[in-house]
Amino acid sequence: MVTEEQKDIIKSSFPRVLIHTLKNGTMVYEQLFLDVPEAKELFKNTSMERQGQMLVAAIGKIVKGLDHPEIFEKDLVELAKRHIGYGLKPEYFTHFGNALINMFEVSLADSWNKDLHDAWVAVYQEVAGIMKGVIFANQHPL
Ligand code: HEM
Repeated sequence: MVTEEQKDIIKSSFPRVLIHTLKNGTMVYEQLFLDVPEAKELFKNTSMERQGQMLVAAIGKIVKGLDHPEIFEKDLVELAKRHIGYGLKPEYFTHFGNALINMFEVSLADSWNKDLHDAWVAVYQEVAGIMKGVIFANQHPL
């Protein structure tokens, strides 16, 4: 669950992430590929600069959606549906989350603290929970 206080600190810190959209977006994938080299394969035909920008834009939508739960959930379900068929594994979400939190820590630098860390972890847990529910709902192990 994301508390009202957590929503507030996320909304007030996010503009600093946006200032360096390109750098911050690509940083997430650089970290992800260090942790999970096999995930590079998913992006072999992808412009990572464009991908990074789209990622930061998507996070911006998530931040705006914090105050609008009906949009928040609907957007994420749509985003998740577009991820079906990319070949994601559930554990990628853990690494992706770590890479994302690392990017927030680097980009928010001196204003980073435990409250911000916990707030972003809470948001990411909701986001990843919804996305994984959609992507892996119909996959049954043999
Ligand atoms: C918070 C979680 C995530 C967000 C916000 C996110 C966001 C996005 C966005 C905005 C796109 C662009 C296309 C579209 O809008 O449909 C995209 C595409 C993609 N994402 Fe994600 N994503 C997330 C998690 C992941 C994870 C965990 C992986 C796997 C490591 C992944 C792999 C991909 C791939 C392979 C594409 C397609 C790239 C292409 O078109 O070449 N995503 N994602």
